[in-house]
Amino acid sequence: MKIAVLKEQASGERRVSASPETVKKFIGLGATVAVETGAGEYASISDADFAAAGASVAGRADVLADADIIFGIQGPDPASLAGAKPGAMIAASLNPFGERARIDAYAAAGFQALALEFMPRITRAQSMDILSSQSNLAGYKAVIDGAAEYGKAFPMMMTAAGTVSAAKVFIMGVGVAGLQAIATARRLGAQVSATDVRSATKEQIQSLGAKPIFVENVAGIEGEGAGGYATEMSDEYKAAQAELVSSHIAKQDIVITTALIPGRPAPRLISDAQIASMKPGSVIVDLAVEQGGNVEGAVAGEIVVKHGVKIVGHRNVPSRLATDASALFARNLFNFFSAFWDKEAKAPVFPDDDEIVQGVRVTMGGKVVSERLLAG
Ligand code: NAI
Repeated sequence: MKIAVLKEQASGERRVSASPETVKKFIGLGATVAVETGAGEYASISDADFAAAGASVAGRADVLADADIIFGIQGPDPASLAGAKPGAMIAASLNPFGERARIDAYAAAGFQALALEFMPRITRAQSMDILSSQSNLAGYKAVIDGAAEYGKAFPMMMTAAGTVSAAKVFIMGVGVAGLQAIATARRLGAQVSATDVRSATKEQIQSLGAKPIFVENVAGIEGEGAGGYATEMSDEYKAAQAELVSSHIAKQDIVITTALIPGRPAPRLISDAQIASMKPGSVIVDLAVEQGGNVEGAVAGEIVVKHGVKIVGHRNVPSRLATDASALFARNLFNFFSAFWDKEAKAPVFPDDDEIVQGVRVTMGGKVVSERLLAG
């Protein structure tokens, strides 16, 4: 089994899909690993580090030749896979809804594409879940980015020259990223509140020492759909949420939004009028900016100022912590492949009837096979 680790080609992508630790572990399973020259450069992993772990390091064509499994962070451009053999697996974050043409091209080329973000949310798959590992880091970094743009301090400080008051931080969307954002903002000494549509998050918010801000008395507030994900809310709920948020948001210094609904544009949570109600110097960090944005006026890849409020829209936030993000992504990949590794064959065996396999496998035998994709 030859595993190819590609150097990422997408602009701004600093992560790498293997680490010296996972290279050693795959070799321990009987695989060989070929890493593209410079693949780890921006994650502070040198070619020499990969070579010392037992990988061969070479140009893309050599790395792809005869590879059985191709690892990436983002789905590689099909045109950049010339020379790879049909039937090879591609395991990466493939963005199947956003990059459907790419998925079709993988199918046409005969690849077995594994979309890691389609990992089902079940206990057995937790250690393989790239969305969790990367969102966790993004939630942390969003608070750090917000603090960096904010012209005041986070903790309350009593000094001889007077008292500095604690920053008020509001987290909207309390999934993996939001929970980490709450914990990080609390550690920095802020007064933290948070909201979500899934009522199960109320207790989680409280257990982290933050104040839950929730719409009450509106039918259908459960908000939890398949796999623990949020569902689209009713118009009545949305109106109640907007009213609640309006009164709360005007008093906040930093707002971090993380709300996503799988396969749909991110829900709009903050309007221009609400931004205008905030104090000048406040900061909003929109972690959903690349999925359409939770915040009106947020621009992917930019920090814009509206009504004196900075709206931070960094792209690819996990890549801003490339070393840790790579290490965790690489472990997710190892945990996934090793769980299906046949020790005698020294190769992964993916049973068709396995829930995880059915979730992540998007192309096989020349066709798109993912039910989620075929359902539209
Ligand atoms: P996500 O990234 O899809 O969404 C982020 C958050 O935004 C969610 O909490 C969602 O409820 C919230 N949201 C959506 N619409 C909203 C709105 N209009 N207003 C306010 N909030 C809104 O979610 P994520 O982080 O992927 O986690 C979802 C759940 O899945 C969590 O309960 C998490 O613990 C669970 N999970 C389970 C895993 C497993 O068992 N293997 C792995 C990862 C997550």
